[in-house]
Amino acid sequence: MIYIQSIKFENDQLQILDQAKLPIEKKYIYINNLEEACEAIINLRIRGAPAIGVMAALSIYIEMKRQFKEKLINNLNDFKINLQSVLDQIGKTRPTAVNLFYAIRKIKEEILNKDFNYIEEALNELKKLALIIFEEDKILCDKIGEHGASLIFDGANILTHCNTGSLATAGKGTALGAIYTAVEMGKKVHVYNTETRPLLQGSRLTSFELNYAKIPNTLITDNMVASLFSNKKIDMVLVGADRITKNGDTANKIGTYSIAILANYFNIPFYVLAPYTTIDTNLDSGDKIIIEERKPDEVKTFQQCISAPYDVNVYNPAFDVTPSRLITAIITEKGIFRFPYHF
Ligand code: MRU
Repeated sequence: MIYIQSIKFENDQLQILDQAKLPIEKKYIYINNLEEACEAIINLRIRGAPAIGVMAALSIYIEMKRQFKEKLINNLNDFKINLQSVLDQIGKTRPTAVNLFYAIRKIKEEILNKDFNYIEEALNELKKLALIIFEEDKILCDKIGEHGASLIFDGANILTHCNTGSLATAGKGTALGAIYTAVEMGKKVHVYNTETRPLLQGSRLTSFELNYAKIPNTLITDNMVASLFSNKKIDMVLVGADRITKNGDTANKIGTYSIAILANYFNIPFYVLAPYTTIDTNLDSGDKIIIEERKPDEVKTFQQCISAPYDVNVYNPAFDVTPSRLITAIITEKGIFRFPYHF
């Protein structure tokens, strides 16, 4: 199967597919510096926890190379001071997905805290590390896909939420990746996917990806899930994750928690698929996860059309936390974990 690539790194240049424009326009844009990288993350031109981490790592290299070429860095001391500032700035873009902070931590450990002889050597090591993070994500997706596909039987009707495919990762995806793997194994599936208000990652991105992959799919709005579960035979729910705490509580796109409650009520297995690094062992439980709150305009408009009074109060959390007892299993590249979670 051929997947739409969300991130391209060729000839030492970084490009991303501008997801804010999908599905109307399929356009790759260059990321030339830190400012463009931060803007792209904040405005969801690149989104999905793994893709954010990979793109951050590559764009940190792009920014440091730019500073070196433009002679803004004259020695290794400058290199380290400026790298620290770049890491701090990119770390402020989106708080919830752990993958961004994984990339930042790796760069701190392997570049910032190491000694080099020349700036070129430090830059070269930074590039190597960013490419490892990029390549690793593809491999992780394949492994998660294999474990996940073992739970998907021929003829399964699956519900998914948000977008967890190749647009959200550097590889084939996590929850969607498992569906792709199942299809590659010859299993026939049907996927229902939620629109995912307010930014429509389901209708704009998942419907687009599933159509591209020629996998039978049906779009529903977020408030149709109870109706779907009561009227159609849904065999399982597959979703991704932005951060999982030590006890298995899982932050994912807003609306995931409601689906988990409904799945529990209707006795439908609810699976979370994510790389093992999504598990934040520094946090004991989900109430410690910082949840990003986004601009009111995203709720007061629908695809740029005004859909509410301009002065109305808005609550716009981008993620919610599903308690671990509602999650049937968490699937990582290391295998299938079941409640009570001991990672
Ligand atoms: O706001 P987004 O689009 O970055 O949110 C994405 C999600 O919540 C995904 O489900 C999650 O990042 C997993 S992507 C493999």
